[in-house]
Amino acid sequence: MSNILKSLLVGTALTAVTAAHATELEVTHWWTSGGEAVAVTKFAEAWNATGNTWVDGAIAGSGGTARPIIISRILGGDPMAATQLNHGRQAEELIEAGLLLDLTDVAEAGGWADLVNPSALLDACTLDGKIYCVPVNIHSAQWIWLSHDAYEKAGLEVPANWNEFVDSAPALQDAGTLPLAMGQQGWQQNIAFGAITLAVAGLDAWKEVNINKNADVARGAEYTAAFEAVAAARSLASESNVQDWNQATNMVITGAAGGQIMGDWAQGEFAVAGAVEGEDYSCLPGLGLNPILDTGGDAFYFPLIDDADITAAQKELAALLISPQVQVDFNLAKGSLPVRGDVDLSAANGCMQKGLQILADGGVLPSSDLSFSQDTTLQIEDLMAQFWSGDMSAADAQESYAQLIEDAD
Ligand code: GAL
Repeated sequence: MSNILKSLLVGTALTAVTAAHATELEVTHWWTSGGEAVAVTKFAEAWNATGNTWVDGAIAGSGGTARPIIISRILGGDPMAATQLNHGRQAEELIEAGLLLDLTDVAEAGGWADLVNPSALLDACTLDGKIYCVPVNIHSAQWIWLSHDAYEKAGLEVPANWNEFVDSAPALQDAGTLPLAMGQQGWQQNIAFGAITLAVAGLDAWKEVNINKNADVARGAEYTAAFEAVAAARSLASESNVQDWNQATNMVITGAAGGQIMGDWAQGEFAVAGAVEGEDYSCLPGLGLNPILDTGGDAFYFPLIDDADITAAQKELAALLISPQVQVDFNLAKGSLPVRGDVDLSAANGCMQKGLQILADGGVLPSSDLSFSQDTTLQIEDLMAQFWSGDMSAADAQESYAQLIEDAD
């Protein structure tokens, strides 16, 4: 048999096998910014390299826009094959309705219970002993990103903490620079509120409110100080007229703004812009006051689809997303930390190294997505949107917030 024929046959046989097993999976997510797009491509490339096909279902507008679309498609009988959601209670209703694939067998085969750190991330995927999602990263929200250009222009040292940042604002404004970049969306304003509150009110008060839903503490002195600090931050961001978080990050990248409080997904934008940590920008976990980070982030869920090939492919994709090299490639591009501790992250930049060290030191908190229902979270985000974009007093905002905590589920 000639070699050409042999290779043809092998080729044909391979194609046949691949064709037989190649499965197209539509995957929805809200990773549409420059950095996010680079990161999600790491997942798509890894899946395509298996001979299967990643059908990208990106939804613009961040989670607040994407999540209702994703959930209503699943509830409406038009499910995608896989979808991003955040760690926590966002999929509660779907799991209880029996609409999501049980991944317990994949998790046991992959030893996820021993791998995933912190284990709370896997607990957040677990209901009645069954596992319904694969956690893919750890994102934390308690960061401020600072522009070296803006501080050089103002003739100032880059601040080492929130208090120094607030003190630097008049000089930034004199130099024609916006002190604090902020996208005009409730979820972003809520992130800033949360980060400032943890830094100013302190860990114990934060836990009492965000974990134990203690409204008395939300009405207490620590939170009064926090709301006054947020009111001060509001005035530093009053000229920030952008919508999307990555537009605000871009203001820090270009030096148009001195800083932005945003989750560490902002790193992807600095990377895409070629900005170098420590030279072009700096990052302060816990706003440089309280080196504590929450363990929020993303997980993938797989709606039940009555097709054995698709179900098999969904399980294969779930295992792939948590596999060592895919975890490294994705998280380095995304600016998040991997969910498994047995991978080499020596290539990670200084900000990620700070995050890793805080994680290793145990300076972590569960994200409020784990304690508050989606309904409570959306009400708090609405209050924050009202507060940051208007002239509501800090005292009125605090009382409204305390009432939401009182009624929180
Ligand atoms: C979060 C998500 C992050 C990030 C961010 C901004 O909900 O966990 O991965 O991308 O939204 O879109």
